[in-house]
Amino acid sequence: MRKQLKKVLALSCCAALAVLSLSGCAGDQDKRIVRIGHNQSTNHPSHIGLTAFQEFINSQLGDKYVVEVYPSELLGSQTDMVQLTQTGAIDFCIASNSILETFSENYSIFNLPYLFGSQEAYHAAMDDSAVTGPIFESTVDAGFTSVTWLDAGTRNFYTIDKPIYSPSDLAGLKIRVQQSPTNIEMMRLLGGSATPMGFGEVYTSLQSGIIDGAENNELALRDNGHGDICKYYSYDMHQMIPDLLIGSNTFLEGLPEDERAIFEEGFKLLNQVQREAWVEGVEDSINNAINNQGVEFIYPDTKPFQEAVLPLHKSVLSDIPAIQPVYDMIQDYNAQFTEAAE
Ligand code: GCU
Repeated sequence: MRKQLKKVLALSCCAALAVLSLSGCAGDQDKRIVRIGHNQSTNHPSHIGLTAFQEFINSQLGDKYVVEVYPSELLGSQTDMVQLTQTGAIDFCIASNSILETFSENYSIFNLPYLFGSQEAYHAAMDDSAVTGPIFESTVDAGFTSVTWLDAGTRNFYTIDKPIYSPSDLAGLKIRVQQSPTNIEMMRLLGGSATPMGFGEVYTSLQSGIIDGAENNELALRDNGHGDICKYYSYDMHQMIPDLLIGSNTFLEGLPEDERAIFEEGFKLLNQVQREAWVEGVEDSINNAINNQGVEFIYPDTKPFQEAVLPLHKSVLSDIPAIQPVYDMIQDYNAQFTEAAE
């Protein structure tokens, strides 16, 4: 039902987009509408960040542009939105790094489990354009570029009724993963049964028992109601996968230099506001999960999980040698922050 409603909404929204692109908004005929889609609810940190971006651009360039933000998969699933951005039908969308690996294999790097040794190393690496540049620009030929990263915390397993203390607890469980070859292989190495699907389908699949669990950050418990169904959340911390704001090259390349500079400032603001809101969002989601949803948080030994999936680093690096220098830079950050903590 929820799924059908979403489809109807997505279709009517696409129809509305087609009409809008022909006519523009009443009163805004001379302005260029900048459309941004994402798949989160309106209280998610990414929506809060995009609202700040929208206000900033409208205040700086409001005589020429009107920024419109479409949350909650109104423009379709993340994969649909990436394709719309690719063709220039919309201008921007937020995509998980996971699904971008099917558009350029270079993105596989940030999907590797246990790539980052700490949150500090993760943030420092993602803030370094020497690390992100070769990845973010690798889709230029595909029609889009990543313009900034957003925090999506750490990904952990959560299940309806079977607590996960070690990889062997995953045996026989159907776990939803994002649609990415690296994530599917990760699940295989951990011994669970990977069930790839779009984010918007997870709630009903959990509810109807098609899957036994999923893996995500804490916000999925609160914002997507997964904590209403899954009662065990296990901090195995297998991945830190960023979300990315991707922009259509048709739009980005068409911007005059001075306007592009203002958009770049807006991307920085989005990153900053989203990351601040992220910290609060995680805290609130944990409190809500404990106090209102009855979720139990488990802190397993992460070593057996790490040992099971480390072969993936080697195989991905040998398949995609171009990402080796980026991998090495990340290892330097890992070493730097481990030393700092000692
Ligand atoms: C996180 C991430 C989303 C992604 C989702 C998923 O919520 O922020 O971008 O779509 O995970 O698991 O699909």
